[in-house]
Amino acid sequence: MTPTARLDELRVDGDRLARELDALAGYSDAPAPAVTRVVFGETDRKAREYVTSLCAEASLAVRTDAVGNTFARWRGTSPELPAVATGSHIDAIPNAGRFDGTVGVLGGLEAIRALQRAGCTPRRSIELILFTSEEPTRFGIGCLGSRLLSGALDPAVDDTLRDADQGTLKERRTAAGFSGALARVRLSEGSYSAFVELHIEQGPLLEAGRLDIGVVTAIAAPASLRIHIEGQGGHAGAVLMPDRHDAFLAGAEIALAVEAAARASGSIDTVGTVGVCNVFPGAVNSVPSRTTLEVDVRDIERTRRDDVLSTILGASQAIAARRAVTVRVDTLNADPPATCAPEIVDAVMSACQAHAVSHRTMISRAYHDSLFMARVAPTGMIFIPCRGGVSHRPDEYASPEAIANGTAVLARTLATLAST
Ligand code: GLV
Ligand code: MN
Ligand code: MN
Repeated sequence: MTPTARLDELRVDGDRLARELDALAGYSDAPAPAVTRVVFGETDRKAREYVTSLCAEASLAVRTDAVGNTFARWRGTSPELPAVATGSHIDAIPNAGRFDGTVGVLGGLEAIRALQRAGCTPRRSIELILFTSEEPTRFGIGCLGSRLLSGALDPAVDDTLRDADQGTLKERRTAAGFSGALARVRLSEGSYSAFVELHIEQGPLLEAGRLDIGVVTAIAAPASLRIHIEGQGGHAGAVLMPDRHDAFLAGAEIALAVEAAARASGSIDTVGTVGVCNVFPGAVNSVPSRTTLEVDVRDIERTRRDDVLSTILGASQAIAARRAVTVRVDTLNADPPATCAPEIVDAVMSACQAHAVSHRTMISRAYHDSLFMARVAPTGMIFIPCRGGVSHRPDEYASPEAIANGTAVLARTLATLAST
């Protein structure tokens, strides 16, 4: 980036960014303030169109891959060099807020525009990435786009991943306008020299410490299970209690076993959640014959996380045997944690100092596309405070000032990384 002195003229347009975040939140399947935006739905399509139009307005060259990851490139003066990338996601879980992911996409775009306005000319190209399906809502697995980009997911999932209506990934992405071989999504070696993601903290530490920026040093290891329980259904009046093999009650015990296993790990860093419970046939006067649970377990230490998974597995089999039902546990993902690259951490710290904002290092307990980008490029994350640490809820909130601060730190970090 030459000349770096131009960074003195760097101005983030916080009002415009707030208006754009507002407009993006309008693309939702839930009434405001809640946001629901599931990948490959009509609302996702319109939201993508909106973001893409803003990228084109900023004279970025936009392309998409077979799974819908969208890349918007600002060409550097040495375009043959690996680019510097930033970005996040715009899909939102059911009944979510408006800042998770979107701050990293629209903030990333505003960071690029701020550098353009300041008259900077990056040596390396700077690329904004909108990742497909960071949230697991539709296909049960998070970070779909970045997993495929990094080679962490076999492209054969095209025919095996199905949504709740039994549509395959291939059918759904094709209907959404993203075709071609999924194998071609994988990035070629050395595509990026660096990746930096801006995100709300989704935890309380920055707000509690009255700090502007979190400089992420590692991302915790997520895992998820789908547990299928099959019992015996029947008439709720006629089947007597000693004769029951109720699939839901077995599921309820398993859910409590998840809680117990996470609490017993010996560390506050272990968390276990049962966020989905589907009961069949779902009638008040029918004994449940089938139940499916979806379980999320995380820890900053992989081995401790894996021990908890084993405990849950053992408990599930024991509960099934005692209740004479059958249980099948599918591991949807069990990923290792990621470490942020020291040189990116340093670049973010220097940007914080140059922008005169307070900061601390921290671990990300949530997962992000950075978890997988770290496998293919030196990666770092910039966190900003969110009110009460609340996320994945409609009342999720980050102030325009916090967002503008994070965007300015991102812009300076990108400028540094693109100049080398
Ligand atoms: C991402 O949304 C996560 O669940 O950590
Ligand atoms: Mn999320
Ligand atoms: Mn997110």
